[in-house]
Amino acid sequence: MSSYFTEEQSVDAVNERVDPNTNPRLQLVMASLVKHLHAFTKEVELTQDELDQAIKFLTTAGHLCTEERQEFILLSDVLGLSMLVDAINNRRPSGATENTVLGPFHVKGAPARSMGDNICLDEKGESCHFEGKVVDMDGNPITGACVDAWSDNADGFYDIQQPDIQPKWNNRGRFITGEDGTYSFFGIKPVSYPIPNDGPVGKLLEALGRHPYRPAHMHFLVTADGYKQVVTHTFLGDDPYLSSDAVFGVKDSLIAPIDKTEGPSVWHSKFDFKLVRATAE
Ligand code: BEZ
Ligand code: FE
Repeated sequence: MSSYFTEEQSVDAVNERVDPNTNPRLQLVMASLVKHLHAFTKEVELTQDELDQAIKFLTTAGHLCTEERQEFILLSDVLGLSMLVDAINNRRPSGATENTVLGPFHVKGAPARSMGDNICLDEKGESCHFEGKVVDMDGNPITGACVDAWSDNADGFYDIQQPDIQPKWNNRGRFITGEDGTYSFFGIKPVSYPIPNDGPVGKLLEALGRHPYRPAHMHFLVTADGYKQVVTHTFLGDDPYLSSDAVFGVKDSLIAPIDKTEGPSVWHSKFDFKLVRATAE
């Protein structure tokens, strides 16, 4: 028996309509979503104009989405939703490399490169040597791990944001560790950059007095048979945006040392990835 819709019974009126044979997880998620959405609406006493604005916002976001541009991921990122889902789904023992947000610029199938290769193809920026080890929780090297790395270029754009300007696969590459678990490659010292802010998400940030910048970072997706994958970045410790990352991706343990070496334009950053076994709790 279903209730008529009233302000007081709004949640029940909606949730009672659901067929009890519906997928149990879908029922649970939707019942909770309706409960919290209605509670939020009541708490702020949402006006008709505000609802219309929200619908316009989402419509504009949808129209902007293409293979290369994902405005809804950006929205989830700036609301802290991406990082919260990431945290809930990637709880790890202390000492294991922490996850952070994947972001919209990862591309599957980056070229497999040899250790020591340079992933920077546009010859811009200051060169940086990235190296370290992929190890298990006891510090033993993991052989055959795949270290997939990507970063922006010196102008603060990923190759897929500038397909007519940057070479394909600029600042991207995959490296397979040998017996000692080490990886080593050259890229650029990444630079801080604004997330795409010419759409509704950018306007929202501006209205909230928030800047759109991410602190400089190198992205990593590290996978190895028998281990949980790690989606992470290493951040440069001297970046002014570390404490105000637009997408809340910074964690203390991911701030990697970066130091100047042989010559004015060569940097060095060392970081080890510690992976948890896939069977571990
Ligand atoms: C990134 O780091 O590539 C990124 C993450 C979230 C939103 C935009 C960009
Ligand atoms: Fe990034």
